[in-house]
This record gives sequence, structure tokens and C-alpha cells, in this order.
Amino acid sequence: MPTAVITGGTDGIGRALADTYLERGHEVLIVGTSTAKGEAFLAAAARGGAGGRARFLRADLSLVAENRRVIDHVTAAYPAVDLLVLGARYHRSTRVETPDGFESTFALYYLSRHLLSHGLIGPLRRAEQAVVLNFGAAGLAGPVRWDDLQLRRDYPGTGALGHGGALCDLLAAHCARTYADTPVHYVVNHPGVVSTSFAGEYDRATAAHVAGLRATGKPVSRAVAQVLPYLTAPPARLTAVLEGRRVPTDTSAFSPTAAARLHEATTGLLAALPS
Ligand SMILES: NC(=O)c1ccc[n+]([C@@H]2O[C@H](COP(=O)([O-])OP(=O)(O)OC[C@H]3O[C@@H](n4cnc5c(N)ncnc54)[C@H](OP(=O)(O)O)[C@@H]3O)[C@@H](O)[C@H]2O)c1
Repeated sequence: MPTAVITGGTDGIGRALADTYLERGHEVLIVGTSTAKGEAFLAAAARGGAGGRARFLRADLSLVAENRRVIDHVTAAYPAVDLLVLGARYHRSTRVETPDGFESTFALYYLSRHLLSHGLIGPLRRAEQAVVLNFGAAGLAGPVRWDDLQLRRDYPGTGALGHGGALCDLLAAHCARTYADTPVHYVVNHPGVVSTSFAGEYDRATAAHVAGLRATGKPVSRAVAQVLPYLTAPPARLTAVLEGRRVPTDTSAFSPTAAARLHEATTGLLAALPS
């Protein structure tokens, strides 16, 4: 049975993708921090007769050890992974560091996705055709702050998400080259403004802005419909999608040199963690 693993699957676009892939007959494992949301997904699946194919794993993906636990769990539980969705996000208006010492958006929005993309390559390459969907910037964000990946200077508020998105573009570009001999395809998707929970802790001005985005954003169903065709039939090893439209990947946002530089910087950061 095809398997989908969806981070951020407890809410928003991730949850809608989880429902969609349950309907398509997949085994679906969602990952999030909220047990209540996870159990709501399981209950809805059971009501729809798909309870046996729905799973929830509680994990805080802003922590390196938690990502490694998820990788171990998925590798042991599923022979192959056909779809990996990297959709967890949480914004903080104020700069916060995780217990690992990483800026929190860097940790959740980028580093977790780096760990999962590489750590799950075993089950991904065993699928007939696998897709990794990463909600990145699709070329819209940047430049990368090479000398300040942890955003220590002039913390940019919601710009931290954009910076994370630019890092995710490079991550997908690097994976597409590194794993070119596997059946894995990489789709970077920027869905535009979508009316979701916008999980996070916002200062007053940002909270007002976010309330506006929630009120005016497109429905989640539309965001899912815009990306689904690229997941079903990925047109290339690396595809970037902006609100349903394919955009070029031969740009600086996906530069192989920059992607390799980021990979090296990331492995250096991980190697410096106490074991
Ligand atoms: N909505 C938009 O307008 C928009 C625009 C551009 C890009 N995107 C991108 O699209 C993707 C989905 O966004 P969304 O708006 O649908 O998200 P959302 O509704 O805000 O939901 C965020 C998800 O991330 C999970 N999450 C938060 N912190 C976590 C942690 N520490 N560990 C594990 N999971 C965690 C949440 O699960 P729990 O609550 O269970 O922790 C939830 O499932 C994200 O990558 C986002 O950046 C969205």
C-alpha cells in the first residue's frame, strides 16, 4: 500500500493533504505536536472507514533528536515512503533558540526538513516513484544570509519564514542532484496566502497582519488542488510551483553551488552538536 508521511499534517494544508491521500487509499502518517489534533485526524479517519490506514506520531520537529526519532520510526514501520510532505511551521515574532542552540524557525522550517529529506532517503528510494513536497519559497525569497544563518542580527520577524523558505529551495535543489539516481522527485511549493491557523506567537502588529491573511487567504482546498497535479505526476526531478504555476529552477534560488554550500554549512552545524 502506498505510504504518505506528512509533517504539519495535523493542521492547515498538511491536514488537507493527509485527508486527500487517505481518500486515495494511502497509509498516512501525520506528525505534529498536538495530541488533540492528531486524535481528531484519527477519529475522522475512523468515521470515514480509513482508521486502519491513519497514524499520528507526536514529535517536536524543532529538535534534532526528535527528527532522528521520527526517521527511526518511519524506517522501521514502512518498507517504502511514496510521499513525504515537509509542512511543519511555527512562527515567532521574537527570536528564540531551541535547546539545541538553533534559531527556532531555522530549526523547524529548514533543519528538520534537511534531516528528514536525507534521513528518509532509504524508504523513499524503495518506492516505485517517490515525491518529496517541501513548502519553500519557490524562488520568491532571498538572499540567503550566509554569514548569519541563525538570524542573530536584525531578526527579521516574519522574514524568518521567507529566509527558511529560501533555504528549503536550496535543500530541494541539493537533494534532486544528490539523489538523481533514485526514483525520488522534489517539488518546492509556495502556495500563496492560504487561510490556515498560521501557527505561531505574534507581536501585536504581526497578529493584526496575520488576522488579515487568515481572513483573505485562499481556502486550503484551493491550495491543495493547485499542487496535487505536481505530486501525482512530477514533471521533473526538481519542480518549483508558485500558486499552481510552474516556475523556473535554473535560477540563483536553486543554484547548485549555493545548495552545496548550504549542505556543507548544515552538516557542519550538526557535527558540532554534542552527541
Ligand atoms: N498559510 C499560508 O498562507 C502559507 C503561505 C506560504 C507558505 N506556507 C507554507 O505551507 C506549509 C503549511 O502551512 P499551513 O499554513 O498549512 O500551516 P499551519 O496551519 O500553520 O500548521 C502548521 C503545522 O505545523 C505543525 N507544527 C508546528 N510546530 C511544530 C513542531 N515544533 N513540531 C512539529 N510540528 C509542528 C503544526 O502541528 P501541531 O499544531 O500539531 O504542532 C501544524 O500541523 C508551511 O510550510 C507554510 O510555511 C503557508
